[in-house]
Amino acid sequence: MTTTRHHIDLVETYAAHNYHPLPVVLASGEGAWVTDVEGRRYLDCLAGYSALNFGHGHPRLVARATEQLQRLTLTSRAFHNDQLGPFVEALAGLTGKQMVLPMNSGAEAVETAIKVSRKWGYQVKGVTPGAATIVTMSGNFHGRTTTIVGFSDDPDATTDHGPFTPGFTRVPYGDLPAVAAAIDAAAGNTVAVLLEPIQGEGGVVIPPDGFLRGLRELCTERNVLMVADEIQSGLGRTGRTFACDHEDVVPDIYVLGKALGGGILPVSAIAADREVLDVVRPGTHGSTFGGSPLAAAVGHEVVGLLATGEYQERARVLGKRLVAGLDALVGSGLVAVRARGLWAGVDVDPGLMTGRRVCEELMARGVLAKDTHGSTVRFAPPLVCTEDDVDLLVSTLRSVLEQALLSAG
Ligand SMILES: Cc1ncc(COP(=O)(O)O)c(C=O)c1O
Repeated sequence: MTTTRHHIDLVETYAAHNYHPLPVVLASGEGAWVTDVEGRRYLDCLAGYSALNFGHGHPRLVARATEQLQRLTLTSRAFHNDQLGPFVEALAGLTGKQMVLPMNSGAEAVETAIKVSRKWGYQVKGVTPGAATIVTMSGNFHGRTTTIVGFSDDPDATTDHGPFTPGFTRVPYGDLPAVAAAIDAAAGNTVAVLLEPIQGEGGVVIPPDGFLRGLRELCTERNVLMVADEIQSGLGRTGRTFACDHEDVVPDIYVLGKALGGGILPVSAIAADREVLDVVRPGTHGSTFGGSPLAAAVGHEVVGLLATGEYQERARVLGKRLVAGLDALVGSGLVAVRARGLWAGVDVDPGLMTGRRVCEELMARGVLAKDTHGSTVRFAPPLVCTEDDVDLLVSTLRSVLEQALLSAG
């Protein structure tokens, strides 16, 4: 039995089948590259769903994490630690917000944003008790808790997981009049509009130009919080610090995760101004690990990496190269390309092959990527990758599509 087979068998036997991984067993990584247990190298074009924006084993992140690991890892929030203050100060600076509430996973940060929005609604806006409504978008992905999947329209996420939390409505993504109508239908009880400024799991879906700005104006006008889930789109991926920056929009609440933990440990947070986050009082929300010294140390270093704009610039420049290469494949196996920064979703001609099959063929040629929704493949290589890596991604995809077109005759 090969080492690869052995590891896959163990996982299939003892781990719940909540994922359908590609049949590759990774053992080490450096920068944009990973190596499997057989010694084969692959270009990582998923980057942990953008949690690895700074690549595998970024020297500054590893050094900071290692130092902190040996000093102090966890205090709980029952006591103060000497890492949290500097971290939240730095993250407040990066987001331009006055306060930060640290958590762990992305879903927890989204839950936090929901709880805070509701509390703000009741305590500040004066919403009818028990009637707070949050507007969400079709095709959303915000995580896997029962409340969050309750407003998903993906049957895989919802089936047999109900009953769900009430208080959410859903409108078509990017449809401003529909958002306005949903806010009005709740008769003053809408507390927030929750959205991904670019939908990642949806397949890198970018809303129509002007939508984010229009939404910002609408939310301000109707006294509703604009909550931007930038867990996947934020922290440099799109060529700007936040995807909202592309329309010069500042939401009321940023929801952050993934890359905030540098691909080392789960670190998430929401950032908002005092008027919003001051509704949180001792005992009303928390997490044992949220804001731990280890998480804060790594998160602080991540904020430091983003401070110079170097990674945002890399995403912008390399992204242009990526999209030029991918656009050239439209009509030759691809039917559409959507991209912003170093982040692309490509729709494969469904008559040619599935997204899964494309990913398997890419893997066989040394490139790792992930399909979504049948015929879409996402590319999000670490921002530390090189021009050669981007060219390799494109040429490998071209060879997969050419082979398929040849076989299809
Ligand atoms: C936009 C968005 N929000 C929330 C989440 C959930 O994050 P986590 O898996 O860390 O709970 C994800 C994960 O893919 C995401 O893409």
